[in-house]
Amino acid sequence: MQVTDPRILVVDFGGQYAHLIASRIRRLGALSEIVAVEDALEASRLPGVRGLVYSGGPASVYEEGAPRTPEELLTSGLPVLGICYGLQLIALQLGAEVHRSEIREYGAAMLSVLDCTGIFQGAAGSSRVWMSHGDSLASLPPGFVALGRTEDCPYAAIGHVQKKIYGLQFHPEVMGTDQGDLYLENFISLCGLAKSWKMDDYLERTIRELRDKYAEQRVFMLISGGVDSTVAFALLSRALPALHLRGLLIDTGFMRASEIENVVASFHELGIDLRVAHAARDFFSRLADVTDPEEKRTIIGREFLAVRERELEKMELNVQDWFLGQGTIYPDTIESGGTRHSHKIKTHHNRVDVVTEMIAAGRVVEPLRDLYKDEVRQVGRLLGLPEELIMRHPFPGPGLAIRCLCSAGEGEMAKEYPSGWEGLSTFVLPVKSVGVQGDARSYAHPLLLRTTGEFQLSDLCQKALRYCNENPLVNRVLLTLAERHSGVLPRLRRAFLTPERIEVLRRADRIVYEFLKENGLYAQIWQCPVVLCPLSQGHGEALILRPVVSLDAMTASPFLMDASHRLAIAAKLMTDANIDLVLYDLTGKPPGTIEWE
Ligand code: XMP
Repeated sequence: MQVTDPRILVVDFGGQYAHLIASRIRRLGALSEIVAVEDALEASRLPGVRGLVYSGGPASVYEEGAPRTPEELLTSGLPVLGICYGLQLIALQLGAEVHRSEIREYGAAMLSVLDCTGIFQGAAGSSRVWMSHGDSLASLPPGFVALGRTEDCPYAAIGHVQKKIYGLQFHPEVMGTDQGDLYLENFISLCGLAKSWKMDDYLERTIRELRDKYAEQRVFMLISGGVDSTVAFALLSRALPALHLRGLLIDTGFMRASEIENVVASFHELGIDLRVAHAARDFFSRLADVTDPEEKRTIIGREFLAVRERELEKMELNVQDWFLGQGTIYPDTIESGGTRHSHKIKTHHNRVDVVTEMIAAGRVVEPLRDLYKDEVRQVGRLLGLPEELIMRHPFPGPGLAIRCLCSAGEGEMAKEYPSGWEGLSTFVLPVKSVGVQGDARSYAHPLLLRTTGEFQLSDLCQKALRYCNENPLVNRVLLTLAERHSGVLPRLRRAFLTPERIEVLRRADRIVYEFLKENGLYAQIWQCPVVLCPLSQGHGEALILRPVVSLDAMTASPFLMDASHRLAIAAKLMTDANIDLVLYDLTGKPPGTIEWE
């Protein structure tokens, strides 16, 4: 990129979505670049800069040490769009008040547009937006007007039309904001930018860059069979000579049913013979008494590298001669706390300490590291990979291990919680799962719903969101689909990561996969984790279904399966005596993450 290329700068305040904003702007055809808060002033003076976006961030603007850009950026004459934390910072610097909201908002809300001007040119009067915040504006800065509101947020959108400074409390860059692209396109127009960016050019440029940078290197690639590592491998094989590239598939013991054979066969069809390392015993023994999700993730990530080294030795190859290749995509980096001000939500297996040390030493090749899943799929198509492979549901590197919750304690019972709704009883469960709220990690309890009346799933999802927004102890809500002993309160049982429990989960995962395929639901769902949870009514455990709809995994909504399918799938799963309860996750992301751990 030349300094004179017309572009928009996205200032990264450490939010989960800073990079996504830049990516969406590019997808809308305009050039965009991310800068750190500390570099924003200097970067804004480059001749090509036409506008600024302030991203969200995990801090509160009024906290000591919260990241801030110099106020003079707001008088530079450049159009500015502040999103979430960005809006709050602009408002504070221009003289408004920001406070902790009484009701935090995570997930969907309805925006009423008060004035269809500026970034709201051509916008619908009312549409769905995606919120993730605990702070909000208590007043407007002088000269600004409210352009939009939601039920809980009177200043959901504000603007100073003459100065072209706008602020949105919600996230226009995520899939859950229905007219987000329109608002961003309007901002691009306000910056006077032409549309020029295309994925094919990006691909050609990336292949050229890989060739220039790694022409002399050798890359030993870890492959999982998922779309990311397969596309990364295909991309590298376009750029590097065949003798410089090797692929390794590690059987961790946490793969889905028949996965290893299927991956080997599909690579064979692509003309690639994949080496397989059978390492289940190593993984199980390292994880035998581990219950903490982060500890699990770290051990798994390190073990991947240990297996890789052992395999290189077996092949009599020198570890030092081979760079590590991975199919890492952007959400892996950001969720692992990989940018300067971002919070760690969870450590992805390809971002454990040993890998970050290798990255710092320049020994890791990750050709997709700036892309999101939907973009990776586009690259896969441009590379000619089969559609079946491209559209497979994502599956995490640590596999079923992070879908099998463990507990060292036992006996604690679910506790009743006042539901405030006729025909609905609610219970706080004695387990915890990971969530993302206001750009920060949460680790909180799920709430279990039992219904006696008739409810629409969409109403229950609304209700679930309300529970999570109002109660900081709760970050997920589950609906009971089936129980072995009707009305018996679930109790925590002691359970570790054993081959037997993984086998129960693997069987259930296969039943769910086949059910979704047979009933035409697979393509409608983005991903459907199946989670085994040590909650018992008798001798078995709870099984949780987590079908979600998403575009890029940065946000997600619960998939609304109709009642007949819910009943049918629960009945199939209950035929296994190891299952006491079948539960359905009604939570969006935020406040829950897609995986439970
Ligand atoms: P979360 O749970 O963070 O997941 O909402 C977002 C997406 O990332 C996948 N995921 C992983 N993928 N290694 C991976 O390769 C990991 O450690 C990992 N953790 C989560 C998850 O399945 C979802 O698609």
